[in-house]
Amino acid sequence: MKHEKVLVLDFGGQYNQLIARRVRELGVYCDLLPYDMTLEKIKEYAPVGIIFTGGPNSVYEEGAPDVDAGIFALNIPILGICYGCQLIAHKLGGSVSHADTREYGKSEIEYAEGSTLFEGVAKRNVCWMSHTDYVSRVPEGFAITATTKTCPAAGFEDAKRKIYGIQFHTEVHHTIEGEKILRNFLYGVCGAKGDWTMSNFVEEQVASLKKKLEGKKVLCAMSGGVDSAVAATLIHRAAGENLTCVFVDHGLLRKGEAEEVVDVFRDKLGMNLVKADARERFLTKLKGVCEPEKKRKIIGEEFIKVFEAEAKKIGAVDFLVQGTIYPDVIESGKGASAVIKSHHNVGGLPSVVDFKEIIEPLRDLFKDEVRKVGTELGLPDSVVQRQPFPGPGLAIRIMGEVNEEKLQTLRDADFIMREEIAKAGLNREIWQYFAVITSTSTVGVMGDARTYEPVIALRAVTSVDAMTADWARIPYDVLEKISNRIINEVPHANRIVYDITSKPPATIEWE
Ligand code: XMP
Repeated sequence: MKHEKVLVLDFGGQYNQLIARRVRELGVYCDLLPYDMTLEKIKEYAPVGIIFTGGPNSVYEEGAPDVDAGIFALNIPILGICYGCQLIAHKLGGSVSHADTREYGKSEIEYAEGSTLFEGVAKRNVCWMSHTDYVSRVPEGFAITATTKTCPAAGFEDAKRKIYGIQFHTEVHHTIEGEKILRNFLYGVCGAKGDWTMSNFVEEQVASLKKKLEGKKVLCAMSGGVDSAVAATLIHRAAGENLTCVFVDHGLLRKGEAEEVVDVFRDKLGMNLVKADARERFLTKLKGVCEPEKKRKIIGEEFIKVFEAEAKKIGAVDFLVQGTIYPDVIESGKGASAVIKSHHNVGGLPSVVDFKEIIEPLRDLFKDEVRKVGTELGLPDSVVQRQPFPGPGLAIRIMGEVNEEKLQTLRDADFIMREEIAKAGLNREIWQYFAVITSTSTVGVMGDARTYEPVIALRAVTSVDAMTADWARIPYDVLEKISNRIINEVPHANRIVYDITSKPPATIEWE
């Protein structure tokens, strides 16, 4: 089936992926593509609407991202956001001015009556601004549809030509009713039908994969992570027993995770799953190693060796599955082709497998869509809502040497933290939360005896993309519960601390 599509032209702003995600959440497929796409290519793409994103430049700067003015004559509705709206004004004969100070944050906004874009939106509202330049005069034929204290033309439009500009960011939740505005553009202005749903996606993918994979052998490396789990399950629907999944148990997963992989994929879904028990092998290699980068390197190399041995047993295959997702595609080469993920657990695989082609069934999907597909395919929440987890696993959450005793302590402490966060209903709003074993031991007293054990640290952060993060304001009583339970239930635990650093300057992981 051919989906209706919206083209999101990327001018380099920080919320660009978010715009694309919001459009898709509203049921319309879209691609985020570089702003310099030619008119020819745009016509070929045949979008029902075009969105210009924000960007860091000023339209008057030399070499600032530009568009071919012919785009306004294509008869395709256009919505320009932030830099995108300034560009519309600039290209069509309006003026853009430079403010002395940058406006950043919430702003009161007033919408005029009668604009399709703001239909059903309260007249006075709050929007999210992040700009220095602003549109000071709209082009001829345009009407001003929204104003704020600092922006005389926070919204403007030429409804006849279906060209709309907004200075504020509809895509962030701080813009109240931002979703409604975007919906109005897609459905009210562009006349979209909304044919992008994850159940459609699954149905179409399975049908086309069935044709492609008929009689072919397929191999997939399962890491326990969301992407490989969903990719494998989707392929399994189409390829059945022709798919073999290899799961390398390096012993560095969290409590219960290795068992769950076997339980869900082999026992419940009936997949052909090979589990390579390499726990001893990894521990031996990690003996005496304290330096985090060295740990990563050893784990990466060892993983590939174990996988290679299993792949040899399976022999030549037609396809190797990669769990590449859309942000990897965007970040790797502006949509051209995905570089194979370079983190340790899949990076080196292609060179050790005898295969003909790589298959990436999730390369068009954002992470939240991958999760929805997982749910659609019947995977449990514990798999599809799994937090991001580093490839080298618990080895980089133990400072200093990794050994079985520390792993045991960490698994138990981490499990308690996860349980209490979930009980408090905080698991969806906190991006990542986990325990760490530090390399500092301190004195404690338990019963009448003196103890001397490594400090356990708790880390919990909020984030949207892991590039920046803030420490989560977990209520004291939840922290108290976690701390008490760890001390009472986990041997070798005598002191718990909570990490209150944001990223930057810290990172999310301790390593
Ligand atoms: P940092 O610690 O750099 O982590 O703030 C950013 C995000 O990346 C995750 N992370 C990894 N994910 N393979 C992965 O797939 C890795 O080797 C790896 N190392 C860190 C980390 O958990 C956080 O979400």
